[in-house]
Amino acid sequence: MIRRPALLLLFLLPVAAPAKDSCVECHTAMESAPALKFSKDVHQRRGFSCADCHGGDRNADDQDAAMSKAKGFRGKIARAAVPQLCAHCHSDANLMHKYMPQQRVDQYELYQTSVHGKRIASGDGAVANCVDCHSVHDIREVKDPQSPVHPLRLPETCARCHADAAHMAKYKIPTNQFEEYRKSVHWAALAQRGDLSAPSCASCHGNHGATPPQVSSVAAVCGNCHALVEDLYSKSPHQPAFAAMGAAGCVTCHGNHGVRLPSSAMLAGDKSVCAQCHTADSPEGKAAVEMAGMINGLNAALKNSDQVLRQAASSGMEVSEAMLRQQEAHATLVKARVAVHAFRVTAVSQLAQSGLAAAAETRRAGENALKERDYRRMGLGVALLAILATMAGLWLALRAIERPPQAPAGAGRR
Ligand code: HEC
Ligand code: HEC
Ligand code: HEC
Ligand code: HEC
Ligand code: HEC
Ligand code: HEC
Ligand code: HEC
Ligand code: HEC
Ligand code: HEC
Repeated sequence: MIRRPALLLLFLLPVAAPAKDSCVECHTAMESAPALKFSKDVHQRRGFSCADCHGGDRNADDQDAAMSKAKGFRGKIARAAVPQLCAHCHSDANLMHKYMPQQRVDQYELYQTSVHGKRIASGDGAVANCVDCHSVHDIREVKDPQSPVHPLRLPETCARCHADAAHMAKYKIPTNQFEEYRKSVHWAALAQRGDLSAPSCASCHGNHGATPPQVSSVAAVCGNCHALVEDLYSKSPHQPAFAAMGAAGCVTCHGNHGVRLPSSAMLAGDKSVCAQCHTADSPEGKAAVEMAGMINGLNAALKNSDQVLRQAASSGMEVSEAMLRQQEAHATLVKARVAVHAFRVTAVSQLAQSGLAAAAETRRAGENALKERDYRRMGLGVALLAILATMAGLWLALRAIERPPQAPAGAGRR
């Protein structure tokens, strides 16, 4: 039974043997870099070779015959010609779907709409072409964690140009996207927690249609993932007001690349994002301070009951029910932070009140458990004292029994 596959293999081998490939043979013997890298390339594994991209005759042994113009040899490929070369196969649905039925064939089409694609078409060689992002001669499947377009590696791939001030000088656009992004909640979620649902560069800019999201679509970019917040924001008075002023939505308050962990400091105090447009003594400024107060109040109450509950649990008291209730109260705090995006005090206050009520309840449960613990400890102490007293009494009694009759004083001396 076990031998069957081996027999089958022997039978198939001569048929499946790779066609002659003098390009790979000679270039490997020469130790040329492209040939040495090629074993890692997805195209090599799909049976393609040098000649499928560079042209020429792979059956000819002689260098000149193999790399002859007459056989379509094109030599080195100019940067601007790369997208069309790749598109020759990748935009051909018939060909691609033979290898991978679900494969997309719109990369080149999208690329042409991107800033990269438009500029390369007008002769600008400094923008990204297909191989700047995917590499060349060791092109990997995009799922491969070693691929330069894998979400964890992509920021560095883009940064090769976008963080290089000299490379970008003539365009006068910022070069801090990578640096900012690496400080963001998104990179922390992706890199530290392995949360692949957090955005890398292409999640916001698109894989092939890399354009900056325009002002009207910025809220939509964030809203793709933060649907709840997006829903509140789009119904708030800010949405039409920001649109009329030409201000970007979410990005006005959170930034784009360096989105930081939000807190109530964004509402009140000298880091308030509201202060961009509302003075502290305006009704809107006061509303912001009020919301911050409620969120801070709930946060403090939760910390307090957290501590009481932890103390109770660590001294062995049963508080699991209160702990569950406490989790709900924490969820209310998250909801209150989300509700800020309605920009109405009542939206936050309803949640804050129910959160405060729950926190008070769990705190009471914790305190009762601690009282119970103290009561038990006192009971235990009393019992212990009683036992000790009994033992001491017994010991005294025993000594009284065992002690030999007292000799008269002075007897036995001298
Ligand atoms: C017998 C050896 C040999 C064979 C067969 C061969 N090459 Fe080459 N190839 C070379 C050498 C040597 C060079 C360097 C030539 C030079 O610098 O002028 C080279 C250069 C190249 C270059 C770079 C050209 C440039 O302008 O820089 C490409 C691309 C290339 N080969 C592709 C191929 C392909 C595709 C095939 C198969 C169809 C092939 N080679 C077959 C020896 C070979
Ligand atoms: C999927 C298409 C593709 C395949 C397959 C391919 N190449 Fe290339 N090759 C390119 C592109 C595109 C460039 C231009 C890269 C650039 O602009 O940096 C290039 C550049 C080169 C160059 C000149 C630049 C250099 O790195 O020295 C050589 C030589 C070369 N290829 C040889 C080969 C050989 C040998 C093979 C087979 C082992 C091969 N290529 C397979 C697409 C391909
Ligand atoms: C600015 C960088 C960049 C450029 C330029 C680029 N790609 Fe991509 N490519 C990506 C990213 C990012 C992915 C998605 C990776 C993932 O799914 O995690 C991707 C995915 C792919 C895929 C897998 C299928 C798919 O569409 O998701 C193919 C095939 C592909 N690219 C081919 C090309 C071709 C052909 C070109 C040139 C016309 C090109 N790429 C240009 C970044 C780029
Ligand atoms: C001769 C046809 C052909 C050419 C030319 C070609 N490819 Fe491919 N490519 C394929 C086939 C077939 C596959 C395997 C099917 C698949 O996995 O999508 C593939 C796979 C890929 C993948 C992996 C896709 C995935 O889903 O993980 C990437 C990335 C890729 N090619 C990029 C390029 C780039 C960049 C170029 C140009 C330098 C290029 N290809 C040129 C035919 C070609
Ligand atoms: C080979 C270098 C290179 C690589 C790699 C590269 N880019 Fe670019 N990119 C450029 C250049 C040059 C421009 C043109 C700048 C301009 O027109 O303002 C540009 C333009 C852009 C723009 C439009 C900027 C604007 O406001 O005009 C965006 C967005 C962008 N790139 C995103 C990306 C992303 C995301 C990646 C990685 C997936 C990436 N780029 C990889 C060189 C590169
Ligand atoms: C969370 C979404 C998001 C992520 C992730 C992201 N960007 Fe952006 N990016 C934006 C938005 C939104 C803009 C438009 C800025 C505006 O209009 O205020 C932008 C603008 C740009 C621009 C135009 C110049 C500028 O700074 O305004 C470039 C270039 C760029 N991003 C590159 C990158 C690179 C490279 C990465 C990865 C390191 C990246 N972006 C990650 C959302 C994102
Ligand atoms: C591809 C999906 C995606 C996109 C697009 C996206 N985010 Fe996120 N965002 C996430 C994920 C995942 C987290 C981590 C969630 C967590 O920490 O629980 C996150 C976290 C955040 C946080 C911190 C939340 C917290 O309480 O820790 C803020 C603020 C944020 N994103 C704002 C934005 C803004 C503003 C944009 C648009 C410029 C945006 N996001 C675009 C997925 C996305
Ligand atoms: C007018 C300013 C403003 C705008 C516009 C805005 N936010 Fe916020 N956002 C805040 C403030 C303030 C907080 C912090 C509330 C707190 O923690 O007390 C916050 C918190 C968040 C949080 C964290 C909620 C949590 O779970 O802790 C996320 C995620 C978020 N915003 C995403 C977005 C998205 C997505 C948009 C666009 C649809 C957006 N924000 C628009 C001001 C804004
Ligand atoms: C980019 C400027 C800008 C920023 C930043 C901004 N606002 Fe506003 N806000 C406005 C404008 C304009 C209006 C008037 C909308 C209307 O009523 O037509 C407004 C209206 C309001 C209102 C009144 C809504 C109503 O029902 O009439 C409140 C409350 C408010 N903002 C709170 C905030 C808070 C809290 C922040 C910070 C988290 C903030 N705003 C940040 C521009 C801004």
